[in-house]
Amino acid sequence: MRKIVILTGAGISAESGLGTFRDVGGIWSQYDLEEVATPEGFARNPALVHDFYNARRANALAAEPNAAHAALARLERDWQGEVVLVTQNIDDLHERAGHQRVIHMHGELTGALCAQCGAHWTAPLVMRAEDPCPECGEAATRPDIVWFGEMPYDMDLIERHVISADLFAAIGTSGQVFPAAGFVMHANAAGAETVELNLEPSELSGMFDRRFEGPATEVVPGWVEGLLAGGLRQ
Ligand code: NAD
Ligand code: APR
Repeated sequence: MRKIVILTGAGISAESGLGTFRDVGGIWSQYDLEEVATPEGFARNPALVHDFYNARRANALAAEPNAAHAALARLERDWQGEVVLVTQNIDDLHERAGHQRVIHMHGELTGALCAQCGAHWTAPLVMRAEDPCPECGEAATRPDIVWFGEMPYDMDLIERHVISADLFAAIGTSGQVFPAAGFVMHANAAGAETVELNLEPSELSGMFDRRFEGPATEVVPGWVEGLLAGGLRQ
């Protein structure tokens, strides 16, 4: 059975109008990562963190999936084998494009978490730290987002998929954040073919067997068509 494992990053949602992090003018040039994407930042000023993610939740809701999200959903539907999608993105554009199985290793804007008891529920559009947890009643609500210094979700499962892939593809990620940035090394070591689809060279471009350079809405549909027409050896 031919298994394709795909990792996506902010670049695949860029043409849907959602910002990337490290491009010129990116999110980390507008906000201090330490203040809005770390547990220490949340402890210092939960309201600031909720404001940051409330704005991103509203942006994601107003955005539409693009042709790259749709192409991956088609690959999942039509590929004669297994397709596993791991995303670093916290938006739900893959799901809204029809993708059935998505592993959100950095969490999701649609999720809320209780910092006290760990309960998880669907996030309202606007969240506040003082919102009582529906389980324990504590005013300890946080976004269900994995911050710097925290472990991503499903790492064991993801690693098992990566080392059993026949083809590993990274789409729209700068390859600057671990452990996601390490997946291509593990795929290579396990003998997978590796391909990068990105607007420009990334930190990891030299690690891939093949590269398709350009906007995701142009290179991803063409890559999917090639796979569905001719199989893995693209
Ligand atoms: P890391 O060392 O994995 O990544 C740090 C990267 O983030 C650096 O390579 C740099 O590119 C960038 N970075 C760090 N500080 C920055 C700053 N002040 N401004 C701009 N860019 C900055 O990060 P870590 O602390 O070891 O955390 C790793 C864990 O956190 C991983 O599990 C990762 O999946 C998770 N994570 C989650 C988010 C999120 O916003 N959801 C962001 C990054 C990392
Ligand atoms: N098409 C394809 N790739 C694009 C496009 C596009 N239209 N626009 C930008 N890119 C590429 C950039 O060249 C860059 O390599 O997408 C990548 C975006 O990189 P980052 O902004 O670093 O985003 P990402 O790799 O997802 O960041 C990883 O860091 O801050 C954390 O949690 C955050 O999940 C994020 C993680």
